[in-house]
Amino acid sequence: MNSPVAGKNVVLCVTGSIAAFKAVQLASDLVKAGALVDVVMTEAATKFVTPLSFRAITHRPVVTDLWAPDAELEIGHVTIGRRAEAVVVAPATADAIARLALGLAADAVGTTALATTAPLLVAPAMEPNMWAHPATQANVAVLRARGAEVMEPGEGRMASGHLGRGRLPEPPEILAAIDRLLTPRPRDFAGCHVVVTAGGTQEPIDPVRFIGNRSSGKMGFAVAEAARDRGARVTLIVGASAVGPAPSNVEVVPVATTLDLQSAVQAAIVDADALVMAAAPADFRVAAASDHKIKRARDEIVLRLVPNPDVLASIADWPGFKVGFAAETDDLIANAQQKVASKKVDLIVANDVTAPGSGFGTDTNQVTFVFADGRVEPKPLMPKRAVADAILDVVATGLRRGPAP
Ligand code: PMT
Repeated sequence: MNSPVAGKNVVLCVTGSIAAFKAVQLASDLVKAGALVDVVMTEAATKFVTPLSFRAITHRPVVTDLWAPDAELEIGHVTIGRRAEAVVVAPATADAIARLALGLAADAVGTTALATTAPLLVAPAMEPNMWAHPATQANVAVLRARGAEVMEPGEGRMASGHLGRGRLPEPPEILAAIDRLLTPRPRDFAGCHVVVTAGGTQEPIDPVRFIGNRSSGKMGFAVAEAARDRGARVTLIVGASAVGPAPSNVEVVPVATTLDLQSAVQAAIVDADALVMAAAPADFRVAAASDHKIKRARDEIVLRLVPNPDVLASIADWPGFKVGFAAETDDLIANAQQKVASKKVDLIVANDVTAPGSGFGTDTNQVTFVFADGRVEPKPLMPKRAVADAILDVVATGLRRGPAP
């Protein structure tokens, strides 16, 4: 099958990071996948990798200088930006991200990014402290709000020897993101309202302590993004999450406890067509949370827990399409089948949270679809975004079919 990038004009903007060498691999992968690749480099990038490396791989001129005497290249930055079908900045330094956020056009990369109407993908690479800095995070938020896709950098050992989040995502991950950007998206949720829950709830013990869980919010965020991209109006109800800002262009409702989550869900579904409950609500809360900090003591303390309501079961009569998840450590299918029945949902996404690369905090997930009509469909390990789209394919089919007579 043809790659979505085959025959597409992809502009690869390379900025001045030690990770620029990985952009050579990315250019090569893009060319192998059939893309027509134009490379634009900042002057700083040319200190790490020569334009000749990219020219040899892409067989096309490389734009490095707005003031090149060569007339063809002089207009190249605008021409290339205009004909681009995707613009990818990889690696994107903190400085490049700041310039993109401000719309500066003093170099060939900034000019290309301003001259294009194509989707923009930004793959950051920088020291962990620079990535975490509020200035960088604010610039990233500006770009995301403008519709650009800014990838999360990877975690690990940096060239400096420091450990942390800031590594350029690997070329295959960037290629997969470009594929997604260039894959025509169905607008099969246009006119639909989809409610998604994400993250974990937190049940207070006292004003400084709580009972929580390991949900990062990634799975729910991926569902919200996918529904938005497919044309839905999205309400995203978020408990505690460990990922960056919520996806842009969705209505975000923050909640703390399971009781808050229940109220928010009940309010949001009033005019909704579908609900996807990816959140991990706490099943118990402290019977009598203290209103002051419990002091350290030698004696043991006993917390009495009372059950929280089952949010999904509490809306059993709601006629919209309901998807629940089941986070399981054993008896995956049997437990999921029991939950389909007890929670009265159309689909349970059964999630073995002990499988490698699956469950809490991961970027990928391995799930099995367990349907109310008894069908069981195991899925391979996939990025959470791909799992989200697979779930929405089921929801779209269910919504087209309408409520059961
Ligand atoms: O957030 P991530 O780090 O990306 O991790 C994703 C995930 C593992 C949290 C997600 O894939 C997942 O499995 N979510 C469901 C977690 C959970 O609460 O599982 P459960 O088996 O306890 O609950 C089953 C279903 O009932 C869930 O849809 C849950 O949202 C819902 N529920 C649970 C408790 C409760 N009191 N009310 C509910 O409605």
